[in-house]
Amino acid sequence: MQSVDDKIIVEEQQGTALVLAQTPVGAAKKMYLESYGCQMNFSDSEIVAAILLKEGYQTTADVEKADLIMLNTCSIREKAEQTVRNRLVHFNGLKRKKPSLLIGVLGCMAERLKDKFLQEEKIVDFVVGPDAYRDLPVVIQKAGSGQKAVNVLLSREETYAEISPIRLGGNGVSAFISIMRGCDNMCSFCVVPFTRGRERSRDLNSILHEARYLLQEGYKEITLLGQNVDSYKWKNTENEAVVSFAQLLEAVSLVSPSLRIRFSTSHPKDMTDEVLAVMAKYDNICKYIHLPVQSGNDEVLENMNRGYTADWYKNRIDAIRRILPTCAISSDIIAGFCGETEEQHQDTLDMMDYVGYDFAYMFKYSERPNTLAQRKYQDDVPEEVKSRRLQEIVDKQMLSGLASNQKAVGKVFEVLIEGESKKSNLQWQGRTTHNKMVIFDKTSGEKGSYVQVKIKECTSATLFGEIV
Ligand code: SAH
Ligand code: SF4
Ligand code: F3S
Repeated sequence: MQSVDDKIIVEEQQGTALVLAQTPVGAAKKMYLESYGCQMNFSDSEIVAAILLKEGYQTTADVEKADLIMLNTCSIREKAEQTVRNRLVHFNGLKRKKPSLLIGVLGCMAERLKDKFLQEEKIVDFVVGPDAYRDLPVVIQKAGSGQKAVNVLLSREETYAEISPIRLGGNGVSAFISIMRGCDNMCSFCVVPFTRGRERSRDLNSILHEARYLLQEGYKEITLLGQNVDSYKWKNTENEAVVSFAQLLEAVSLVSPSLRIRFSTSHPKDMTDEVLAVMAKYDNICKYIHLPVQSGNDEVLENMNRGYTADWYKNRIDAIRRILPTCAISSDIIAGFCGETEEQHQDTLDMMDYVGYDFAYMFKYSERPNTLAQRKYQDDVPEEVKSRRLQEIVDKQMLSGLASNQKAVGKVFEVLIEGESKKSNLQWQGRTTHNKMVIFDKTSGEKGSYVQVKIKECTSATLFGEIV
């Protein structure tokens, strides 16, 4: 019955992707789902869609047509939450026109604020945290009959292992697979351990099953997701040996040599040489590591509770360079953490020089309620100092990204075609193993195929080339 109209819409709004539509025909009620935050949240939205599709809902990209609006939210920085609040105000405008409309908040903000949404703000009908999505049908039904509808229970076991996600808003070429949930690290600035609960790993067999299924469905690239993939550990029965991330990575890469494998995020304190050796052994594991440093200064790292020093981090970088000489490296960097001095900020800039990152996500520190840092330290770096330091970091990264791309000019890379370029239907866009975006004329190839592309020129963000 469920034929799929493959109209897929993804919009970019204020740096956060706004979802979707894959519309099975013939179902009754329409749901509109918008996602914010990290890849794990987008991956969770695909689980939510799968759960509600079974209940007879169909997805829509047209919010005006929706009977049910859900926002899968992020709490990582103040700004992320503000964006969601603005959207909720907007959706409440729609509710005035259509009183039967139900509005729900999912994800990290739901977990952080719980029933405050229903009590103080009264702008939503139901609230469901990241570990309670199986309960959505019940919660929605309650909300529909005017009852208080909240489930924000965190779980030590839930991994949604056997739920086959409905791929939303994707390109049909790359997909995510969540391999674990939660985080046990307690970095002092971070809200994730509170919103996502304890770390738990997903059954190896269900991960492999999903990878094989995706391959069958024509996918060519999968990204294994977790807040700290290096601490993946799973065992079937008490007397079986524990499967490590290195072993999982190897097993997934063996599913098919034509399936590219990526993963995110690696943690500097846990990333082993064993993982690097597996990456070196298999061509289909992309030579790209996201290894967030956050700061280049030991005292700041200690206050952040990151569990490593600048020297340790450099040692991990050296190991990558030794074992995977061509590997691209990216980072997350926070400017203006509590108590950060000019010298300490300079250490971060020096670290950037040491590594020469190919890419980085850069943020101003944003204090989050109830985190270790909020309870223990003063958010004492003035806003304008944070902004200036962030700008210095961004400026340096621009140069570093450009230098990295310039090194690619003249070389030939295997590129997986993800689809038509956004700017021209005469060009393809795709990525190299190093996760660099390449644009080139459609002289051959098709979506989902691998082509050899010679790089002719570049900007700091994109490579331009031609198929050879
Ligand atoms: N698990 C990943 C990161 C998850 S959050 C890891 O450990 O690296 C993504 C990034 O957001 C973090 O790496 C950090 O750079 C940034 N971030 C998290 N909390 C923040 C805060 N309170 N203020 C500013 N940036 C923050
Ligand atoms: Fe947050 Fe640290 Fe866990 Fe990453 S490792 S999610 S930064 S607590
Ligand atoms: Fe945001 Fe939650 Fe991800 S806080 S970054 S959506 S884990």
